[in-house]
Amino acid sequence: MGSKALIFFALLSFSAVSSLKTASAAENEEDPGLVMNFYKDTCPQAEDIIKEQVRLLYMRHKNTAFSWLRNIFHDCAVQSCDASLLLDSTRRSLSEKEMDRSFGMRNFRYIETIKEAVERECPGVVSCADILVLSARDGIVSLGGPYIPLKTGRRDGRKSRAEILEEYLPDHNESMSVVLDRFAAMGIDTPGLVALLGSHSVGRTHCVKLVHRLYPEVDPALNPDHVEHMLYKCPDSIPDPKAVQYVRNDRGTPMVLDNNYYRNILDNKGLLIVDHQLATDKRTKPYVKKMAKSQSYFFKEFSRAITILSENNPLTGSKGEIRKQCNVANKLH
Ligand code: HEM
Ligand SMILES: *[C@@H]1O[C@H](CO)[C@@H](O)[C@H](O)[C@H]1NC(C)=O
Repeated sequence: MGSKALIFFALLSFSAVSSLKTASAAENEEDPGLVMNFYKDTCPQAEDIIKEQVRLLYMRHKNTAFSWLRNIFHDCAVQSCDASLLLDSTRRSLSEKEMDRSFGMRNFRYIETIKEAVERECPGVVSCADILVLSARDGIVSLGGPYIPLKTGRRDGRKSRAEILEEYLPDHNESMSVVLDRFAAMGIDTPGLVALLGSHSVGRTHCVKLVHRLYPEVDPALNPDHVEHMLYKCPDSIPDPKAVQYVRNDRGTPMVLDNNYYRNILDNKGLLIVDHQLATDKRTKPYVKKMAKSQSYFFKEFSRAITILSENNPLTGSKGEIRKQCNVANKLH
């Protein structure tokens, strides 16, 4: 796509978003926007079915919960919570999942498991965008995080946003100024950003995203005790991208969403450059210290920020569609 076309689409989606906001402000009867328990009349069991599926999947594969948490960032932060993340590539467009920023994302097929369970009860009613958001909410609880009440009523987009992904999702080595700006554009302030990055208290980071901190020279900012472990896990300066070589984000409590992340990064054990900068930048460091001390402060800010993230420019009312399958837009059936 040419840059003129890109600008055109950016303007188009921008105006679509602003008219949507006016419509919901006018409390248009046909478009209530996002509300609590949107499916109470059309599919009253929806939220329970999703919760049960998330629980069953977590029992089989604990790492599904990491994926649900990462999904809400990668879908909602790229212009809209519209499940565009879940679309497969087509002959015309590349999927967001295949972009480098999505490296390591996994478990997409289990979103289909949840969707199928919901479809069996209420065919064609519940959007993939809502399933993505609610699975994140329930996944956070599986990981020992807070229960965050979230609204529903999102509808599914029809297009991949792969071509603009990098304008929204920061890279692993992005400067803190850029990161702060991108989150501020979604209405997420500094403590909100600091809390959201606490998600890196669970899961893993592949060596390809780390080796530039180890080779040819070890980044002197890294804690030497942690370097030893990282070198053991990532012995090759150019790791085979297909090999599953990774370091756990939080060696202490890798399966638990807790404030140990903040103690790690203050101890120079942050894996990504952004993690490290969070603990050193003067704008973010005060909040890192506060969250390292207080799990309840972390949870409070985390809940607030996830709520804002989950409400980023949704498609509501008659916009978009309710996908039959989360990985393909309906018109392609
Ligand atoms: C500046 C912002 C961010 C950057 C640059 C970033 C980057 C990354 C990278 C490079 C990985 C490792 C992927 C891999 O090698 O497999 C990762 C993992 C992860 N990220 Fe982020 N991330 C950011 C913010 C967030 C946010 C806001 C959330 C959630 C709300 C999140 C949730 C996760 C989770 C849960 C994992 C572990 C995934 C797994 O083990 O499957 N990240 N992130
Ligand atoms: C960030 O890392 C990528 C490789 O993942 C590299 O191409 C890029 O130049 C780096 N950017 C900065 C600002 O260091």
